[in-house]
Formats: sequence, structure tokens, C-alpha cells
Amino acid sequence: MSSIDIPREQWATRAGFILAAVGSAVGLGNIWRFPFLTAESGGAIFVLVYLLLVALIGLPVMLVEFVIGRRSERNPIGAFRRLGHPSWRFAGAIGAFAGFVILSYYSVVGGWVLQYIVASFSGGYGGDAELFFVETASGTNAIVSHAAFMGLVAGIVALGVREGLERAAKVMVPSVIVLLVILAGYGATLPNASTGYQFYLNPDVSTFASDAVSILPAAAGQAFFTLSLGMGVMITYSSYLGEDRDLLNDSIIIVVIDTFIAILAGLVVFPFLASQGVDLETGGGGAGAVFISLATAFESMPAGHLVGGLFFIMLAIAALSSAFSILEVVVSFVTDTFDVDRVPATIGLAAVIFVVGIPTATDLNYLDAYDLFANNILLIVGGLLLSIFIGWVYAPDALEELGQGRGGNGLFDTYWITVVRVVVPLVLLYTVYLAVVEYIEFLQGTFF
Ligand code: PHE
Repeated sequence: MSSIDIPREQWATRAGFILAAVGSAVGLGNIWRFPFLTAESGGAIFVLVYLLLVALIGLPVMLVEFVIGRRSERNPIGAFRRLGHPSWRFAGAIGAFAGFVILSYYSVVGGWVLQYIVASFSGGYGGDAELFFVETASGTNAIVSHAAFMGLVAGIVALGVREGLERAAKVMVPSVIVLLVILAGYGATLPNASTGYQFYLNPDVSTFASDAVSILPAAAGQAFFTLSLGMGVMITYSSYLGEDRDLLNDSIIIVVIDTFIAILAGLVVFPFLASQGVDLETGGGGAGAVFISLATAFESMPAGHLVGGLFFIMLAIAALSSAFSILEVVVSFVTDTFDVDRVPATIGLAAVIFVVGIPTATDLNYLDAYDLFANNILLIVGGLLLSIFIGWVYAPDALEELGQGRGGNGLFDTYWITVVRVVVPLVLLYTVYLAVVEYIEFLQGTFF
């Protein structure tokens, strides 16, 4: 039903919006993907480029989504119609497709987290953290836990228990921070911790020139992934925002919290990897790096299984609130485009997404293949299109919208629209080009 005449529901409190947006942003992207990508991509130089891209591209693109969402009061597909540019709906469709692919393997990693919860409370990680990870991430274990995670996400979306999730997010964010600080403190006491910090925090800028072709797409993809950009989640969430809110202010809060948690996760993971003798310079650990190093930590620290259990529960909540936001976008795309109801659409899509994710549950090469394609290419293309739309098609209205709730436009707004028109498209176009070249090489090297 389209509800043009009915006043649209709004977030009850400012905290409601921030919590939902932070719930979407903070997830496996911060705690699993960021550290392992950093390990794979040369360490501190990657972190530096990532931080620059978050500030220079991520924040402006988040504002692009907020402006579209609040202006249109619609989800990404309805939004362009409402704004008078229905032909741009394909940008929303690309986002929904990206979400479809991302969720299929996000749920697999979410399933690993569920298995680690069970293990934490039932005797630990088998003594050999590496072997335990291999068993977790393969065969029946991985497929069953993938199904369980997907079932949870679908249940939350179908029942519409968003409120429960928001309340959980309220506890989740501070708990994750406290647990990470404790773990980082423990990590600091380990032998060789300084080797880890060195790799993580001390950039060797001279390597950037030679590695830019792989660092740039990886860092841009991660910036989009971790901030939940490029697929319309932030459009949807901001569509419930009142005109009295300051979009800039809210976006800064979300970006800072999300970035802080990722950086903190690195401060935990790198000392552990270094103390386990992982050779960081050669790429250390892959997709299992974080799980292996954390399980080792919990195995050795006092009350480790309890701390571990709590940690993985928090991580599961973080992952669920992110996965929820992805499935929401995909479901609303399908219910808006075709004549189906919400519950059957949710169940049907969850089933299809589960099946599509099965290869990634059985073979980590597929996980990489899905992940690189969805993040480094699809999300970036989504963000590129949204930015071109705002910068070149919709700029005057967009500026007006950004000024709402802040007493009109200021210097920042001029900066913003310039960046959105010129800098973001140029950087993202170059990034997509690099990502496609790299992706073809990856496929040839891995599968053929
Ligand atoms: N931001 C989430 C995370 O870091 C993942 C996500 C990506 C959510 C894209 C929504 C959209 O885990």
C-alpha cells in the first residue's frame, strides 16, 4: 500500500534513529572483516587509507543517503519515484542486489559466531584454535549454523520485532566496547604485542605507491561495508526522520562510533596474532584470523570461556542487527516491486539467500569471491550512482534538505556538495575500475 496521505511514522526519539543506524553499521564488518582485511592488506598503511576514505567519502555518502531518505520519506526504490526521478530506481535495485549477495555470506559468518557461543559455554574451543576454526567453517557445521542465523534474521524481520533489536543494540554497543577494551588490555601484556602494534599502527607510507591498486579498492569497500552504505539501508532508516534533526550531527556520531569500534578491534587482534607467531608481513590468517586469535585468547585468559561467551553473544547481536537491516532492504524491494506480502516475501527470500550462501559455507574461496564482488564492486557502484544523482541531478533540493534542522546551509554544505559532485565520483570510478581488474585476476587465480 502506498501511504501518501497518511502521516509517516517517525522515530520516537532521536536515540531510536541513532541506535538503529549504529546497530546496522556496527557488526561483523568492524570486528571480523576490518582486522582480517588489515592483516591481508599491509597493515597500518591500509588503516590510514581506510580512515581517510571514511572521512572523505564515507561521511559525505552517508549524508547523500540521509538526504534522499528524509526528503522522500520512502525506501530506496520508492524514493526516486517520490523525488520525481523514477528512472533512477535502478540505483536502488543495484543496492538490493548487493544486499542479497552480502547477506548470503554474512549469515555464514554469523553462523560461525553462533557456534563459538555454544563452544564457549560447553568446554571451549578444543585446545587447537586453528583446527577448531577449520571445523567451524566447513561441512555440516557451517551449513547448519548458517541456516540457524538466517532463520533468526528472517524471524526478526517477519515478526517486525525491531524494537527488541533496538533495545538489544542499546546494551550491545557499550558492552562490545567494554569487552574490547578488556581484551585489548590483556593483549597488551602478551609477548610480542609490540610487533602487532607496529604492523597495525605504524604506516610505511613508501609502500603505498606500489600497493595502491590493491589497497584502494579494499579500503573503499571496507568503508562502505562497515558504514552500511551503497545499498540503501541508511536511506530507509533516515526516511523516518523528522525535519528538525541535524543530519550532519547524527552522521558524525554514527561514523565515529563505528570507526572507534573497528580500531579497537584491531588493537585486540594484532597483539594476539603477533604473539601467536603469525607472520603479519605475509598476510596473516585470512578470514579465520580473528576467530582463531580470539579463541586462543579466551582459552588462556582467566575466566576466558565466560568472557568469550559474552563476547560472542554481543558479536551475534551486532551481526543480527546488521543482517536485519540488509534483509529489510531486500524485502522492501521485493514487496514494492512485486505483488507479494511481507511475511511470505521474507520467508521466501531468506530461503533463497540461504541456498545462495551455501557455497561460501563450504569453501572460503567462495566467501572471498562473494565478498569482493559485493563490497568492492556493487556497494561502490551503488554509492557512485547515489552521489551522481545528488550531485548532478538533485543538488539544490539536496542542499535545502541538508540545511533543515540546522538553520540553513553553511560552509560545510558547500564543501559537501562539491565533494559529492566531483571528488566522490572520481575516486569511486577509479576504485571500481581497480576493483574489477583485481576481481578478474582473483577469479582466474582462484578458480581457473
Ligand atoms: N555494516 C555492517 C557491518 O559492519 C554490514 C552491513 C553492510 C550492513 C551493508 C548493512 C549494509 O557488519
